[in-house]
Order: sequence, then structure tokens, then C-alpha cells
Amino acid sequence: MASQTFEEISPADFFYRNREIAGFTNPSRAIFAAIRELVENSLDAAEAFAVPPNIYVRLSDEQDSTPGTYLLRVQDNGSGITSRHIPSAFGQVLFGSKYKLKQSRGTFGLGGTMAVLYGQITTHKPAQIISSTASSKVYKYRIMVDIQRNKPVILERRILLNRDRWHGTIVEFSLEGDYYRAMPKILDYFKQTALVNPYANITFVDPKGRLYKFTRVTTKMPSPPKETLPHPYGVDVEKVKRLVRVTPHNNMLDFMKSHFHRISENIAKRFIEFADISPKKNPRKLNPQEIVKLVHMMKRYEDFRPPSASCLSPLGEDLLKAGILKALKPEFTAVCQRKPSTYAGHPFIVETAMAYGGEIPKRGDFILYRFANRIPLLYDEASDVSFRVVKSFNWRRYKASQDMPIAVLVHICSTKIPYKTVGKEFIADRPEIKREVLNGIRDVARRLKRFLSKREHVAKEKRRLNIFSKYLPKIAKFTTELAGREEEPDIEKLLLSVRKVDRKKTDD
Ligand SMILES: Nc1ncnc2c1ncn2[C@@H]1O[C@H](COP(=O)(O)OP(=O)(O)O)[C@@H](O)[C@H]1O
Ligand SMILES: [Mg+2]
Repeated sequence: MASQTFEEISPADFFYRNREIAGFTNPSRAIFAAIRELVENSLDAAEAFAVPPNIYVRLSDEQDSTPGTYLLRVQDNGSGITSRHIPSAFGQVLFGSKYKLKQSRGTFGLGGTMAVLYGQITTHKPAQIISSTASSKVYKYRIMVDIQRNKPVILERRILLNRDRWHGTIVEFSLEGDYYRAMPKILDYFKQTALVNPYANITFVDPKGRLYKFTRVTTKMPSPPKETLPHPYGVDVEKVKRLVRVTPHNNMLDFMKSHFHRISENIAKRFIEFADISPKKNPRKLNPQEIVKLVHMMKRYEDFRPPSASCLSPLGEDLLKAGILKALKPEFTAVCQRKPSTYAGHPFIVETAMAYGGEIPKRGDFILYRFANRIPLLYDEASDVSFRVVKSFNWRRYKASQDMPIAVLVHICSTKIPYKTVGKEFIADRPEIKREVLNGIRDVARRLKRFLSKREHVAKEKRRLNIFSKYLPKIAKFTTELAGREEEPDIEKLLLSVRKVDRKKTDD
């Protein structure tokens, strides 16, 4: 029998071998994914600093390299990164500051490093990161990723004076890619990012030197999300085990009250009674079976309050509308924000919108814009929950048909978006989310129906008026002759009164 050899690989090595699961499938997807990951980090960083984002992205041909190699530079005015964390933020996968229970674009501590890692394995060049947190210094690093050890390798570190207290981050590295194949998706990505972040300025310069500028329509930003505690419906045995290990409390009552979301003294008391645990029990002394039982009882207890939505940051109806008006210039828009809801203990909010006409093309199909935590989702549309809802929606009931220029927009925000892959492209069919998406689409579709009915009515009346004004003069002439009169009646008065009745009807 041949002897087996075993080895251990690091997380960076795993993502190096399986980069397609993080979205780096081929040269075209890779360039899209790299831009997207860095832009998302920049948007998160600006929002964390509570300033409207200014993001500058430049993709240029690498002069001295093989064709198909680009230099990507992304600059933002965000929070910046503290010097000691810069190397790991971009040189270590699964390292990040967003493993918190609040809404953010980043979730896995993966994207930025994946982009740098992809650049390194295709060009063998280091990445340069310049950052400052508005302190008196700007830090400049040149790093590479030690993939086998999942550690950054610092090639150069320089400190510069920061006289004007600049804050932000500049990331620059080379990567192989296929910009021209990826171009339509990249431009779509910027357009939709601008739509769902209408308070951001985004500039993109492509390898041909073409400039795409998306200017903010407002400086108003959605209120930032607050970090929250885990909801008892959303935890598992591992989570409770970790809490038990670190808790400073020595009785179950305080343990429940201080480590879980929305548990008051009263609810804690009642739950502990329900779970048949003594309120005086020291949580640190819970044995494995007791922890399993505790988690089990949490799932069964029906009187916990639903999670609050303070950890979420939906766009809000006004901003959503402003974004749509700017991007699509439609004749009609309706927006809707659903009330907060939950799945498996995770809060979420669905926002929907529908727009008609303007720059929305007639594609013979409804155009669906999907967003999650203010990120546009562009690939694998057919696998997404919103796509399924739109496909099976009873459009006829709402007077809408596929040959109309209609765009449907669905934005889902949550502390945990149920993405099906780490590439963050499509959202799983959770029944609770599906229901909210459907209700949200129904709400805006009803308003679209009213608009379409009114439009149809106006068109009908216009046709009627046209007929009147075409035949009335002739009728007037013939009847005057028939009656043997000389002077024709004044039809202008008659037409005017028809128009008046007409206007009144359409204004109602
Ligand atoms: N432009 C940026 N400004 C400030 N911090 C950043 C920026 N880009 C990355 N970071 C930091 O680096 C960490 C790792 O980034 P990334 O690998 O993209 O993971 P994620 O965004 O999922 O947390 C982030 O959590 C953040 O703390
Ligand atoms: Mg990220």
C-alpha cells in the first residue's frame, strides 16, 4: 500500500488554490473583483470616518510588462489604517476590522488581500499602500504576501510628514487582467455603486485615459449602523461557549442580560425559568451538555423581542430616490422601505424601488438592479432570490409588461447577508427574505400601476381630442352648408371646453 503524505495549508494558500470562490475566476472577473473589493473598502472607510466618500480609481497599462498587465490605483478619503495594521490588512487573508455585528460591505477580511495576492501571483510585484489616519504622519509600505504562511512581508516602510492632516488610503499594485472584456461590467458596477451611494464622488480613469465621473447628488449620508450583541435566536453552541469563557458575570441572570441583544431583566428571568436553569448558576461552570441545552431552549423560547434595526443602515427612501433620479432619469419612480425583519436571529431590511421610462432601456425584460449592504451585485443574477421573485411576479395584475422600460431595484441590508459564495454575488432563498422582497415589490408595483393607468387614460383622451379637432371643423362646414347658413359656428369654444373637461379628468 502506498503511504499517504499529509500536509497543512494556510488560509492564504487555500484562497490561492481556490481563488475562484472569492470571485477571481479568470482575467476578466479578476480585474472586476479587484476594483470592486478596493472600492468597497474605500466606501466602508469613508463611512466609518463619517465623511462623504471621494474615491479615485485609475487603471493603466503597465509600461514595461507583457500586454494584459495593468497598474491599479485606488485612493480614498476614508479613516485610514493605523500603521501597525497596514501590512496585515493587505498581506494576510481573514484579517480585518469588520467581524462585528453591524452592517458593512466587508465581511470576511478577505477582499483587499485577495486582490493584492492575485496581483502578486500574476505579476510577481509588490503592492504599495499609503495611509494616514489624519495624524501627523503618513505611512508608506511596500509589501508582498507570504502565501504559505499567510503573513505579510514588508519590503519597505517609510514615514512622511502629514502637514495638512490628510486622512485616507492609497492602494496600488499590478495585476494581470482582461479589461476590455470586463469593461461593461466594470462601468455598470460604477454606475450602480453611484446609484446606491448617491453621497459619493467616484472617479474612474481607464487604460485608454477615458474619464468616468460620478458626482454626488447629496452630502447627506444614511445614519451609521451601531454595533450590536448577538440575538439569542442567532447563536449556536460555539458562540455561547466563547461567551462563557470570557464573561465577567457570575450568575445566569446577568450573563443573559449583558451578552445578548434586547434582553431585559424580566425577559432574562422568564427565560431562565423556562430553560429550567437556576438564576444564580455561574455561567462559567456550565458543562457542555448544559450549554447545548441552553442554546436549544433559546431557539424554542418564543418571547424574546425581535432584533432592533440599529445595527443596520438602510439607504432610506429619499436617498434611494435621489440615486435613481440621477442614474436613470426616469419619468416615474416609487420607492419603499420595509419594516425591519429577521431570519435566524439576523435582522434585515429590504428596500425596493421601481422606475419607468427615462434612460431605462426597453430590453424585452424587466431590468433588475440588485444591491446588498449598498454593494451592487452583477453576476449570477439567475441564482438570486430577487431575480426569482421578479420572474414569478404577476406583472399583468399591475398592468406592466416586459416591453415597457421598467427597472426594479432591490436592496437588502443585514448584519449577515446570506450570500451563497464568498465572492458576494448572489443571495440565497431564505423564505423570510423572499417574503419581504415580494411585499416590497408589490408595494412599488401598485404605485406603478396607478401611474400606468393614468398614462393610459391621458393617451386615450389625447387620441379623442385629436379626432375632435380633426373632424369638428369639417362637420361645422358641412352642417353650415346643409342649413343654408353663411357663418360657421365658433368651434374653438367647443374644443376648449372638451380640453377643459379632459384636463380636469386627468388631474384627478
Ligand atoms: N481603504 C481602506 N481604508 C481603511 N481601512 C481599510 C481599507 N482597506 C482595507 N482596510 C482594512 O483592512 C481590513 C481588511 O480588508 P479586506 O481584506 O478587504 O476585508 P474586509 O473588508 O472584509 O474586512 C478591513 O477590515 C479594514 O480594516
Ligand atoms: Mg473588503
